[in-house]
Amino acid sequence: MSTRPTLLDEEEARRLDAADPGHRELFHIPPADGGRHAEAAYFAGNSLGLQPRATRDELLADLADWQRLGVEGHLEAGRPWLPYHELLTEPAARLVGARPEETVVMNSLTVNLHLLMVSFYRPAGRRTRIVIEDSAFPSDSYAVRSQARFHGLDPDTAVVRLRPRPGESVLRTEDVLAFLEREGDTVALLLLGGVNYLTGELMDIPEITAAGRDAGAVVGWDLAHAAGNVPLQLHDWGVDFAAWCSYKYLNSGPGALAGVFVHRRHLADRTLPRLEGWWSTEPATRFLMAPVSAPPASADAWQVSNPPIFAMGPVRTSLELFDKVGMEALRARSVRLTGYLERLLDAVTPGRPLTVVTPRDPERRGCQLSLRIGRGSAAELARRLRHEHGVVTDAREPDIVRLAPVPLYSTYHDCWRAADALARTVAEDA
Ligand SMILES: Cc1ncc(COP(=O)(O)O)c(C=O)c1O
Repeated sequence: MSTRPTLLDEEEARRLDAADPGHRELFHIPPADGGRHAEAAYFAGNSLGLQPRATRDELLADLADWQRLGVEGHLEAGRPWLPYHELLTEPAARLVGARPEETVVMNSLTVNLHLLMVSFYRPAGRRTRIVIEDSAFPSDSYAVRSQARFHGLDPDTAVVRLRPRPGESVLRTEDVLAFLEREGDTVALLLLGGVNYLTGELMDIPEITAAGRDAGAVVGWDLAHAAGNVPLQLHDWGVDFAAWCSYKYLNSGPGALAGVFVHRRHLADRTLPRLEGWWSTEPATRFLMAPVSAPPASADAWQVSNPPIFAMGPVRTSLELFDKVGMEALRARSVRLTGYLERLLDAVTPGRPLTVVTPRDPERRGCQLSLRIGRGSAAELARRLRHEHGVVTDAREPDIVRLAPVPLYSTYHDCWRAADALARTVAEDA
């Protein structure tokens, strides 16, 4: 490993951090696993966000209520368990630009996508197809294929995968619109990732939603990489439904509970098929133990079971943080921080087998930048960055390394470390 200085200006990074500090002090930063710095330069918040310092005490308070109250905690806990999930509804709604009745936090992401597809994927006549992007996260791909099979359809023909143009890495909005223009009358459901997990591309959610609905399709979004990363206005954009997880940008812990949005126009629709349980009913009648449910006209009607309280605490704590800091301010810092990382990568990628595949336009991406590795293994590069420099990225087979400077806790100096480590680790082309 070379320790010679690179051309990158470390002092500039320090100055930028002093001028534009973020909220790192609110998080536990893991120790570095190599290199000369004590803390990791953590770029994997798009995979698993870091732990807020407040989470442990809040979780311990919920545990103490159980210890002290047993079953009576349902009504008497500091945060009573029966209506606990309602504490998450309004902050989650604010985060995604929804009305409170359109939002619920429950289950995990793929489970929620299935529950929503039970209601919103209803193939009929010519209109049977589900459209995803070719680089959709594999779980979404498996979920839609299994939904097609569930309806007795052949997934190889029922699922359409939209691909970038030959030689390009990201999907163009105009190509999605052209597809809908051409074949929209065969589409039952359009289900895309708001921010693509692999390339970091932010889709034009309002424009694609409008076009999909004009074509007569239902439009749903997987917002795993968008929630807490980019500002969203799901209600105003007319999105039919959406789901997201809370363990990435929402920092709620591994496997954390997920969020759901259902547009208000669907909430009172009694003709929608839905899988129900006792938590799908009105709270006021839930304990009458009636044999037939009375679902509320809200996203709560998609809940099935009583919620896991100790999993809700970390989501509540995290959403409070987003309320405090504000998505607008976070996005503004995110654009500055990712723009800075991009500038540094532009200094080190020429002459090396590294290409940024994420769109250049800040309006078309969140905080993540994805690098395509032209030589060697992406996994090996990520391993060396971590163990030789304390820079935590992640690799996606076969050739992508993802770096997400997260505006809540990442620093300009982290970005400097990433670019410096890449320059030291990846040899220039001969
Ligand atoms: C875009 C996307 N969709 C779906 C999933 C799967 O999420 P879960 O395991 O919570 O269902 C992930 C996980 O990282 C993801 O990134």
